[in-house]
Parts: sequence; structure tokens; C-alpha cells
Amino acid sequence: MCGIVGYIGTKKAVPVLINGLLSLEYRGYDSAGIAVLENDLIKVVKDKGRVKNLQDNPEIDKILGNIGIAHTRWATHGEPSKVNSHPHLDNSGKFSVVHNGIIENYSILRQKLIDNGYKLLSETDTEVIPNLIHMNYNGNILEAVSKTVKELEGSFAIEVISPLHPDEIIIVKKDSPLVVGVGENENYIASDIPAILAYTSNFYFVGENEIGVIKDDSITFYDVNLNEIKKELKSIEWDAVSSEKNGYEDFMLKEIYEQPKAVRETIGQRMSSDKVKLGLDDVDFSKFNRMYIVACGTAMHAGLASKYAFEKFCKIPTEIDMASEFRYRDPLIDNQTLCIFISQSGETADTIAALKLAKEKGATTIAVVNVIDSSITRVADHTIYTHAGPEIAVASTKAYTCQVVLLNILAANIAELLGNTSDELNDFKQSILALPDKLKEVLDTDEIMKSYAEKNYMKKDLFFVGRGADYAVSLEGSLKLKEISYIHSDAYASGELKHGPIALIEKDTPIIGCATNPSIAAKTISNLEEAISRGGNALLVTNQEIHNDKISDIVTIPDIHPMLSPVLSVVPLQLFAYHIAKFKKLDVDKPRNLAKSVTVE
Ligand code: M6R
Repeated sequence: MCGIVGYIGTKKAVPVLINGLLSLEYRGYDSAGIAVLENDLIKVVKDKGRVKNLQDNPEIDKILGNIGIAHTRWATHGEPSKVNSHPHLDNSGKFSVVHNGIIENYSILRQKLIDNGYKLLSETDTEVIPNLIHMNYNGNILEAVSKTVKELEGSFAIEVISPLHPDEIIIVKKDSPLVVGVGENENYIASDIPAILAYTSNFYFVGENEIGVIKDDSITFYDVNLNEIKKELKSIEWDAVSSEKNGYEDFMLKEIYEQPKAVRETIGQRMSSDKVKLGLDDVDFSKFNRMYIVACGTAMHAGLASKYAFEKFCKIPTEIDMASEFRYRDPLIDNQTLCIFISQSGETADTIAALKLAKEKGATTIAVVNVIDSSITRVADHTIYTHAGPEIAVASTKAYTCQVVLLNILAANIAELLGNTSDELNDFKQSILALPDKLKEVLDTDEIMKSYAEKNYMKKDLFFVGRGADYAVSLEGSLKLKEISYIHSDAYASGELKHGPIALIEKDTPIIGCATNPSIAAKTISNLEEAISRGGNALLVTNQEIHNDKISDIVTIPDIHPMLSPVLSVVPLQLFAYHIAKFKKLDVDKPRNLAKSVTVE
């Protein structure tokens, strides 16, 4: 959570910092601030509210310096307020810091500083950092930062500037993302690539416990003991346009419409020939007798929707877990266990912790990740990337469909490596190749979902039901709706309705059913009818031919292998949530209380 940006070079720093913050707002948006070095001073402008407030602050235009750091916040310690906003200064005003992450031992450090005569003005954990740097400073800022980070417990991506060292920015990272973009006589720093993609496509990915000294004409990295380290410069293919709205009203809508392309790119060359190629041929899959798929939120729903292919084609018992539960439930793991971790950002704290636990216990780990070189990719034994491109909207859409597709490709790949040559597996692979075109067709449901949204956007409660993979999609549809429309909704396996939840159905309660598996569709429809008999008003998403005059709206989607239907059936539900939020005039891309990348437990 929180986004940070830095610039050093010949340009005026403020516009670069503001642009970067605007594109990082998906990481947090309750307050924003910048600090720029100018004439031996640190000029700070910060306040609660969005980056737009900062941009409109008349003080900001008066700042002309070429070296600066900036921050957009998702509050962890202390309410959103001016004093709690970043950047923070030490008591002498000589060190300014922005920080993304959490300092877990901040109370102890706070007390230590107070005992040494320091005054802490904010309620934040971050404020201890500039003061510790000051306390550890002996003329060498790099040594002071190194000494300070050795005292910190928790996660951090930090930038430090000081007029005592007016030609450099010091950065350091542990468990929070940080990239350095390389320019000509100028360099950029950001939490995420899209924030600086307009200026460069060459990046250093800062590693765990690495410290960087960023000058306009040089970048030097050190380990925490200040031994210099060499890092590889990487070129990133993403274009700046893909991180912009490109004519769409919101990133979420753009990302929904990008799904055919994103899925096509995720399939890429991996499925073009007879064999699936994921670069995992060296893994001995025959040794695994148990499999866990672990993730959070939408990524966890992608796991739930894909579990069926692993059990059917690979015959490995597969459990899905929320990362935040998995790590504390002492799961049965040994070296015959395969653990798959899914994450769009690759930075989710709960997922990283679960991954580390699985590795400690001897599992083989595979990460399914969208953001290149993110933290999870550095811990997992193997990484396979979804190629969804940058996903900016807080509500995940195209990352989900790409995750489901890639997990199904992975299931096909493992099945092949285990010797499965069945016709059913071959048909399944052909169905995967058909997905991008069918996704284009399913986007035609936009109008009907918009009109259903118009009928229901004032409702207080809404329900989603389905069986099997359709239940997994119902969970995702319900999460999407909650996240961006603030309407309460729940998802149930449709057979469970009669065991309790049906008591909640009253006149005109909207209930959305998903029925795409021919062998169980009729059962879901009967369950919908039970709700309709109690006053519910039903919409059904299906690829079956249904003649039922009790269901008020039937949305037909293209037919596909039942295990792949979550890739298609989720789209009308994404569009429904989107239109509801638009009718309610809400900020679709930045829903309240949320952040795109959840780097705290
Ligand atoms: O970056 P990750 O995929 O690890 O994020 C996991 C969840 O935080 C994320 O999917 C969240 O649930 C989304 N906001 C859902 O739209």
C-alpha cells in the first residue's frame, strides 16, 4: 500500500513527481505529498486528500528544484491528516523520507528516540525513520541509512533526501516494491513501473535489503553492509499507452475490454503446438501427492475456478486456501507437496508469507504472477507470468481472466508431463485456444448488464449463486460488486440456499445465477426458482438453451468447456458491478478503503 516516486536530473522535479503519483494512486489515495531539494532547503508540500489536491495547491508551482521524492498514502498508523502525510522530516529538518510499508517495531524505536530527546509529531510509524537517520548520522548518509535499516522490522521501500547531500537520493527496500528507471543524465524511482514508463523502459528492480545511491548520472547499489553489488538492467516491453485510459471513461472499463487481448497474450506461444510449454519440464510432477493453490481476494477466486482441471487431468488432490489463513493453520506440507501461489501484483504480504512458509516446509513452489520481477517471483522456485499488462483499477478484472487461463494451461502442462494423452485433454487444450474470440463475443452482454444494473443500483442486498466453477465465479461477481458499488452482496453454492440463506430473499431481492455446466445447470435453475417463489427477481448467466418464463433476464454467453467457463461468465458480472457503480456515481477505479497492492497483513 502507498506509492512512492523519486526524480533526480535536470527537469523540474514537481511535474514528474505529480505524474508518477497520479499513476500510483491505485496503491492508496488518502493523502499525498512531495519534498524537493532547493537552495540548501527541503521544500515540503503535503496534505490529506487525493493527489489532485496536491496538484491544485498554489505552493506546488513555486517549487523549482530538480531532486525530489513523493508519496501517496493508504493509512496504516494514524488517520489521514496533514501531519500524518508523507514526506516526514527529522527534528533538525535535514532528512526527508517517504516510506511504503510498515515498521512493526516502531513503538520501541519511537520510545528510543523520545529517550534521546527527539519529538515525534505524527502518529505514523514512518516518522521514526528520518529521526533514526539523524541519530545515526556521522557525516556519511549512506552509513546512517544502512545503520537505520538494520534497526527496522517490517516492510519498507524508502527514499531519503538531504540538503547535506544535495546531489543524490538514497533508496532502500525490503518486502515492498521499488524500481529505478534509468534515463540520460536523469533517473527515476517508483513503486511500480507504470508511474515512470513515460520516461524510460530501462529498469533496475531493487532487491531485498538493497540500498541504492541514485545520482543524475550514476546509480550504485549496495547490500545492507555497504558492499557494492552489480545488478542487471532490464528492458520492459510495456508501452506507456497501456497504462493510460486510452479513450475509456475508467481504467476498469478499459481493462474489462482488454480481456480478449490479455488472454491471447497469456496463451501466447505456450499453446501453439501439440505440447504445452511453460518451462517446467525439469520438475518431477510425479512425486506430488497433494497440491495447494494459495492466494487472496480475486486471485484466490481464480484458484477456486481452476481447481477442477488439476483434479480431473492431473489426478492430484487440490485444496484452495486464502493466504491469510493458510499461513496460520499449520498446513500439511512436505517435499511431496506442490504449492501454487497466484498474485497480480506479486507483492501481497499474506501471499508472500504463505509462500515462504511452504518453502520452509519443503514444498515445490510455482508462482503465477502478472508484475515482472515482483517480490513473489524472487521467492518462488518457478514463476509463470500472466501477460495481462498493467492493471490499474483497484478491482481486478483482466488479471483474473488471465490467471484462470494460465492455471488451466498449467494443469494441461502438468497432465501432459504426467503422461496424460487423453482426447479429453486435447479437446480441453483446443478450448483454451478458442477463449480470446469467445471473450470478444461475451463483451456484447454489456447492454443487457447495464439495463439490469439500472434496475437494481438502488438495492441494498444482492445474491449470486452457482454450482462448481459457477460458484467460484459467483464469489468473484459478488466481490466485484461489493468493492466498487458498496452494495452488500453474498455468493452461495446454489444448493446451499435452502439451508439458510433463502430466509433473506424477499420481494424483488435480486439474485444472479450462473449455470454453464450442462450436467448441473438444471439444478441451479431449480434453486433460482425456489428463490423466485419467495419473491426474488432473477437474472441467469448461461450458455445453455433455457426456456423459463419465471427468470426475468437471461444472459446468453458462448458455449465452452465447462472448466473454462469462468473465463467467460465472469465478464457480465464485471460489467454489472461496473454499471451499478457508475449509476451510483462512484469512483470506479479507486473505491473507498481499498488499495491495489496489499502489502500489509
Ligand atoms: O495482487 P494480488 O493478486 O495478490 O492481490 C490480491 C487481492 O488483494 C486482490 O485480488 C483484491 O481482492 C482485488 N482488489 C479484487 O478486485
